[in-house]
Amino acid sequence: MPTEEWTFSRNGHSIRNRTVLAALTNKQSNEDGTLSDEEITFLLRRAEGGFGIVTTAASHVMENGQGWTGEMGVWGDHQIPGLTRLADGLRDYGALSLVQIFHGGMRAPAEIIGTTPISASINDEMSGNEPAREMTAEEVEDAIGAFAAAAERCERAGIDGVEIHGAHGYLIAQFLGTITNRREDKWGGDLTGRFRFLMRIIDAIRERTSPSFVVVVRISPEIETLGIKIDDSLELAKRLSKKDIDALHISCWDVFKGSEGEPNDSRTLTRRFREAIPDDFPLISTGSIWTAEDARFVMEEGADLVGVGRVGIAHPDWPFGLKDSEYSPAPPPFTTQHLDSVSLSPIFVEYMHRYRGFVVGGRPLDG
Ligand SMILES: Cc1cc2nc3c(=O)[nH]c(=O)nc-3n(C[C@H](O)[C@H](O)[C@H](O)COP(=O)(O)O)c2cc1C
Repeated sequence: MPTEEWTFSRNGHSIRNRTVLAALTNKQSNEDGTLSDEEITFLLRRAEGGFGIVTTAASHVMENGQGWTGEMGVWGDHQIPGLTRLADGLRDYGALSLVQIFHGGMRAPAEIIGTTPISASINDEMSGNEPAREMTAEEVEDAIGAFAAAAERCERAGIDGVEIHGAHGYLIAQFLGTITNRREDKWGGDLTGRFRFLMRIIDAIRERTSPSFVVVVRISPEIETLGIKIDDSLELAKRLSKKDIDALHISCWDVFKGSEGEPNDSRTLTRRFREAIPDDFPLISTGSIWTAEDARFVMEEGADLVGVGRVGIAHPDWPFGLKDSEYSPAPPPFTTQHLDSVSLSPIFVEYMHRYRGFVVGGRPLDG
């Protein structure tokens, strides 16, 4: 049941239920990457609403990894006081805290970072933006070090752990994909080569944080444009399950669907990952979960923890709602007044207009 308590097998951390607020970019951070009061308020409200785990928005580990304005950063010690305030607040409300750490790679626009973006290879994915240049071997090592330093900074601030963002086409995913990673050195080539950047980030984080620090890895099962295929991701999951990490988080977008690349296989993505990794290896699955029935479904498919994004934005008390097995919270669209009443600042409400059908008067469902 999604309302049941659960314990991380590796380090014994307990969480009060199976719910995870997935990472949600909200554009509210200050220009120097520090957390704003609005962003902290938004996250604390979800902890107050009962989430077992609260994850921050994607936050860049190097200044040249910033993907958009208003993005949270964990690249400097000046960001620690805000992180401490967040960590203390989330703990007081009974949630386990995770900071999602990432680097935008080719998706960090030159006009934001003030220099040419970097990637696994020369990549020109962002049409109209300056193409990314290939990272030198030294820069790859620097980036690994930056991920580890960011994790260490989070631990110093009292955050319980990090989620390494290997999903959605950012730098780590750019190393994983055959289209975006055409390197001929040890950071590219076969699966081992393409997985190496992520694996080394995990090792480096482990070296610089205490054994009880939680490390979750988030991946996308498939991204056609990057050359990330389901079979490679299943193999990655197997190898990750042998690493010193606490959970794998798959970003499915729609947990009711199977693989797009292998339409003849009707199993859901959650089921396929569950079958690929050991039974006792913790799995988080996210995408289009709205009702209590949906939450039970994804657990029956093999997820230990249930991740949500949009329903947690609109309904911060969603975890408490799950106590009713028939819980089915109101669907979108939501008025700006409603979103304001659930601790979204005007900046975040404005940002949510771009999500199809979410805000009354925003981008339409079919637009
Ligand atoms: C406004 C918004 C911001 C998001 N920001 C992030 C992010 O920073 N990092 C990330 O990994 N996923 C991000 N996502 C994806 C969500 O974590 C989640 O996987 C996705 O919304 C699907 O879950 P849902 O159907 O419950 O919303 C974002 C989604 C939304 C709607």
